[in-house]
Amino acid sequence: MPDGLPVRRGKWPAHPVIYQIYPRSFADTTGSGEGDLAGIAGKLDHLADLGADAVWIGPVYPSPMYDGGYDVADYCGIDPRYGTLADLDRVIARAHDLDVRIMMDLVFNHTSIAHPWFKASAARRDGMDDWYVWADAGPDGALPSNWQSYFGSPAWRWHEGRGQYYYHTFSDQQPKLNLRHDGVRDALAKVCAFWRARGVEGFRMDAVTSYLHDPEFRDNPKASPEVSARVAGPPEGEYKRQDHVYDFLPGDGVAFMRHVRDWAGPDTYLLGEVNSGNQSVELATDLVGPDGLDSAYVLDVAERGLTGTILADMVARGACRHGLAWWFSTHDQARHVTRAGDGSPRDAAMFGALLTALPGPLIVYQGEEAGQPQAELPHEVVNDPFDLRFWPDGPGREAARVPLAWTQDAPGYGFTTGSPWLPMATTGLPESLAAQRADDGGSTFNMYRHALRLRKALGLADGGTEILDAAEDRITARLHRKQGPPVVLALNMTHTARPWADLRDRDVLLASTAPQNRETMAPRSTLWLTDGAPASAYA
Ligand code: GLC
Repeated sequence: MPDGLPVRRGKWPAHPVIYQIYPRSFADTTGSGEGDLAGIAGKLDHLADLGADAVWIGPVYPSPMYDGGYDVADYCGIDPRYGTLADLDRVIARAHDLDVRIMMDLVFNHTSIAHPWFKASAARRDGMDDWYVWADAGPDGALPSNWQSYFGSPAWRWHEGRGQYYYHTFSDQQPKLNLRHDGVRDALAKVCAFWRARGVEGFRMDAVTSYLHDPEFRDNPKASPEVSARVAGPPEGEYKRQDHVYDFLPGDGVAFMRHVRDWAGPDTYLLGEVNSGNQSVELATDLVGPDGLDSAYVLDVAERGLTGTILADMVARGACRHGLAWWFSTHDQARHVTRAGDGSPRDAAMFGALLTALPGPLIVYQGEEAGQPQAELPHEVVNDPFDLRFWPDGPGREAARVPLAWTQDAPGYGFTTGSPWLPMATTGLPESLAAQRADDGGSTFNMYRHALRLRKALGLADGGTEILDAAEDRITARLHRKQGPPVVLALNMTHTARPWADLRDRDVLLASTAPQNRETMAPRSTLWLTDGAPASAYA
């Protein structure tokens, strides 16, 4: 059973199902070709029907959009492309009617260079001299340290006006805030209070493992080959050759999370993104606790592979015991149904039935519930600096962010009446979302909805995981529940049928593809099974 007992915050379930919206590509109501807040408000019924407890809305703040909105120019405003604060209020009100909680995406590690705070800091104005991380050049203009940015360049950029370097963990358009500075902390506490006062009940905290760094800027040591293989980050280059001991939460990260909890207040749900592969699960589990984050998610399934072996490794390292959130896709990687599969509805269902069985919070990325495959984008339409930097070997972030096709029956596929800001992935999509929802049969949407309901009824979210057998392309686990007999989860990721005598004594509770007979799992399938008790014991 889990020993990282979750805290129930406000009206939150201990382990919520969190639906992630990438706002620019969700639903457009103005014909601009970009999604907006009114579009989100109009689709909340769909998300409640799916089984979402909460909706994480990606950054909708004023932004130059260099990094998809993760370059914030005003933490307390709404970019006009998405609407107004009044539109957000309507989203929150509708969500509350539906018993769905709204989470805003807080990017506290850095701002945009366009943020007035950065301009004031660069000019040493208004007492903001040290609100960012500035450092003098070394002898002969040398960089202050060997630290590398996640976007694949040295992490220091010279600022001519100030005559110093500034530190940027991501792109050079995203200068790092000095989170050890009291003025910055007070300002960020006010940001949290601002959104809470509007009815926001949770925050997704961007890049929490980048919050703090060694104040002396000591060089990271060289990584051993073993560590190097586990560094999440750019596909190649110096970043992966370093052991990130000085640029990632050296020592005082856990203590720091108490400040974050204070800013957010006791009833606010906090989900942190842990983007350090070095010690991802260990760092994340440290940061989760009554005085810190409610949950965190690590990048292992995207960086190291969506395999039975990796999942078992994460479980062994405490991911389930400490309530880390499970997810297979977000806006930062190629969609898993294509990344780890062939993009087919069969694969979408196989992964969906696996994801929804896992204990702890879940993140479902928009369109995943319809089996939306990864789009293919030609170089000339791609804007994302991370994809472009490593083209054609980048992670495929932008092609995971193309607008959603809601229906086949309208121009713009129900996403827009204008022309979509990115070409849409309509060819690979078996059926639009609307059609899948209406269909009583085995659509991907209906499988997700059914699995999420069954997950709730069986209490799988609060259970514990015992791995019985794991290999690259299969996993078998016993899912212990607080009450009642355990559920057995079996995944066959191979392209051939899996003979499995144990199947004979079990009843199927859920199947992504039905077993071929009483002793054989279908290729590419996931099953939830009874474990030594009759199916009626699970009702
Ligand atoms: C997080 C976001 C990603 C962004 C980065 C910098 O990893 O999910 O999209 O580029 O932070 O803010």
